[in-house]
Formats: sequence, C-alpha cells, structure tokens
Amino acid sequence: MQRVGIGIFGFGVVGGGVIDVLRRERELIARRTGIDLELRAVVSLPPYRSSDVLGARLGEEPRLILEDPEIRIALLLVGGTTAARQLAHDCLRAGKHLVTSNKALIAEHGDELFAAARAAGVSIAFEAAVAGGIPIIGALRDGLCANQIRSLTAILNGTTNYILTMMEQHGWSYEQALREAQRLGYAEADPTLDVRGIDTAHKLAILARIAFHIQVPLAALRVEGIERVTAQDIASAARMRCRIKLLARAQVSGQDIDLHVAPTLVPLEHPLASVHMNYNGIYIESSNAGPQLYTGQGAGALPTASAVLADTVDVALGRSKQTFEAYGFVQNTTAWQCVGEREERTASYARFRVIDRPGVLASIAQVLSRKGISIRSIYQGEPQTGQADIELLTYPARGGDFLDAINEIDESAVTTAPTVCYRCLLP
Ligand SMILES: NC(=O)c1ccc[n+]([C@@H]2O[C@H](COP(=O)([O-])OP(=O)(O)OC[C@H]3O[C@@H](n4cnc5c(N)ncnc54)[C@H](OP(=O)(O)O)[C@@H]3O)[C@@H](O)[C@H]2O)c1
Repeated sequence: MQRVGIGIFGFGVVGGGVIDVLRRERELIARRTGIDLELRAVVSLPPYRSSDVLGARLGEEPRLILEDPEIRIALLLVGGTTAARQLAHDCLRAGKHLVTSNKALIAEHGDELFAAARAAGVSIAFEAAVAGGIPIIGALRDGLCANQIRSLTAILNGTTNYILTMMEQHGWSYEQALREAQRLGYAEADPTLDVRGIDTAHKLAILARIAFHIQVPLAALRVEGIERVTAQDIASAARMRCRIKLLARAQVSGQDIDLHVAPTLVPLEHPLASVHMNYNGIYIESSNAGPQLYTGQGAGALPTASAVLADTVDVALGRSKQTFEAYGFVQNTTAWQCVGEREERTASYARFRVIDRPGVLASIAQVLSRKGISIRSIYQGEPQTGQADIELLTYPARGGDFLDAINEIDESAVTTAPTVCYRCLLP
C-alpha cells in the first residue's frame, strides 16, 4: 500500500464532493488500487462550508499545500482563469502534479500549463473538466487509441440540456425553463457561460485536442447558444420527428475539421435524442470501434469528484505522467484547417413565414434548387390572418449555399419575417 499526500484548492461544490467521496471510499480506493489517498490540506476562501476536512489542515494560504513536501498531488478545484492560473503555475513550480476540473483553464491556458508541467517534470490530469463523471478523456485517449476518430457529437452542458428538455416536455418558453433551472440549482444566477455555449466550447476544445491531436484555439470554434430557441422551434422540431439539443460537433474530412457548437435538430432515432435533463452524452464515430455513445451525469459534486479521484489515482500510480508525456499535449501532430460556416456541409431546417398566396412554395423551392439544395421533407401549417408557416428539412448542402438561398428568399417579397434556421443532424 502506497500512501500519497494530496491537497485541495477550492472547497466549493467539487472540492466538497471530493472530500465526501474520500470520506466514504478512501478504503475502497486503497483496496482496489493500492493507493491510500491522504488529504493533508484544504486551501479555500473563508467562510468555509464545513470544518470537517478529514483531519487535514484548512486555511486560505496556498503554502499549506505548496510547502508541504508530503503533498505530491494538488487538486485545483477553483473556477475562473485568474487565480486558478496563478495557483496552477505555483503548484507546477513547486513540483506538484496537478489534477483539475477547471475546463476554462485548460481550454484557454492549456498550452502554457502543459509546457510548464513538462519543464517541471510533472503531469496535469483533467478528466473532470469534461462531462463530469463520464470518463470520456480516458476513453478517447486510451480506449480508442487504435482508432481514427471520424466525428464527435456531444451534449456537454447539463444546464442547457435541462432547459431544452423542460421546454419540450412542458411547452415552456426559454425564460420559464431558465428560471426553473436556476430555482433547482442547475443554472447559475448568471447563466451566460452555459446558455451562450461558451462552457460547451471549452469542453469541445479539450475533447478535440485529445481526439485529433491538435491544438484548438478557442477562437477557431464557431459558437451559438440557446437563447434564441423558442417554444415554437421546439414544437416544429417535434413535428419533424426531431429534438433540439445544444450540440458540440467535431467532424473530420481529410485535413479539414469542422468544429462548432450550435442548437441542432437531432432526429428522434439518433442516440443523442434520448439524452435528457441535466445529462451529458458523447457520440463518437471511429474507424474500428464503430459508433459509441457515452452518457451520464456531466456535472455535480459527486460525479465530478469521481473523475477527480480517478485522475488522482492515475497520477499516484504514475500512469498519468506516462500518458501526459506520450501524448504530446503541447505540439500539433496533425496538420489541419478549420472549416468555416460557409464551407460546412450540413442538413438544415428552415421555417419561412409567408403571405398565404399561390406560388409562394414554388418560389422558395426554385431559389433552393438554383443553389443546389435538395428538399428532404416539407410541411405547411394552417394559414392564419393571411400568413402561413412553411417548414422544410434539406439534405446536406454547403453552408454558404444554404445561407445565400435564405438571404435571397428573405430579401424577396415572399417572406414577412426573418426565416428561422437550424442545423439538422440528418445524414
Ligand atoms: N460544479 C460542478 O458540477 C462542476 C463540474 C465540472 C467542473 N466544474 C469546474 O470545477 C471548478 C470548480 O467548480 P465549483 O462548482 O466547485 O465552484 P465553486 O463551488 O465556486 O467552488 C470554488 C471554491 O474555490 C474557492 N476559491 C476561489 N478562489 C480561490 C483561491 N484563490 N484560492 C482558494 N480557493 C479559492 C471558492 O471560494 P468562494 O466561494 O469564496 O469564491 C469556492 O469555495 C470550476 O472550474 C468549474 O467549472 C464544476
């Protein structure tokens, strides 16, 4: 049995979860792995949520961890990128391995931190930064290492998935569903990072890095959130036998990689359509293992603590350092180029608000056909006060051609409101 000293920065939701799990499972972890994790210090900002920290020292001074030679692994469970970045560098300089759940830190400053870790001869592990309790980084990095990853399509934010599920199940507006998510603690008082898709983009940048061995600057991602999704959009999607999900998508074609986050119509028969409420789901298509779906709790104290502690054991066993070195997180190993919105190939949904008169449908179809876009299915609602909605799904087409067609239609006298469009996950 090897006793390994650890220290926690940040006694919040995740830090508290790690302490809870350690309290209950320390012995189990030791029996299974031969690693006895001894929590020696917890550094956070007062007031502390409890004084029960398993006999560890509790305080706000980083030296409690940085200057304790018995602490080999620092668990950095502080959010944001300012104090967390400084603490990360302090830990690496002090020769501590780092385990973190902070996705913004890894997505925005990963390169610099990985380089510092290499220079210090230690490792950084960040399984908990993506999809909470789902061991997706390990699956991509280790389990699927004999595969080319062709595409990765994922629901990576429980808050937005909860909001979209509530809108669908109760017919609620976006605002109603957001309020309920905040009441239940699924959404922050300031939900910007979640609902604008930024949190999902951070996680996509990290996953793309592992899946494709590329450095992904956040600016390379095209990101849309869910704030403009309406109850009518959700009902229309249902009519098309689809659900709207906030998807992170990475798809490879030759040396081109399409990386984006956007609300997307997911056909009911697709495995991701059944990932509801605050759950996450990651659907991977790879060259040999075939399609796979990973699903589970993408956040929360205990699921995230589960991933933090798995990483901690990995570091203690020396596995993390090996993979960290072998996988070359710093360098690009693949030449690649990001696909822009106009070059992206996707099926689409469009809803046109039109004047109810003969020939309107034909003029829309004509413009689409001129741009080389084929219609897969079409639906026309009952006219009301002289106007009607025409909804259609297209086969995959070049994004630029689809956007040009919609602009041309909206600039003509055919539509009476801007056309509503979404990507659709149909082949
Ligand atoms: N919550 C989840 O389910 C979840 C899941 C996956 C990943 N994450 C990520 O994990 C990280 C932590 O999330 P969380 O939900 O646990 O946040 P949290 O509840 O706000 O906890 C963070 C803790 O760190 C403390 N802190 C802030 N600055 C500090 C500093 N300079 N030194 C020491 N402690 C400091 C905070 O104190 P104050 O409260 O006084 O500021 C708070 O107690 C974030 O990056 C988050 O994105 C969270």
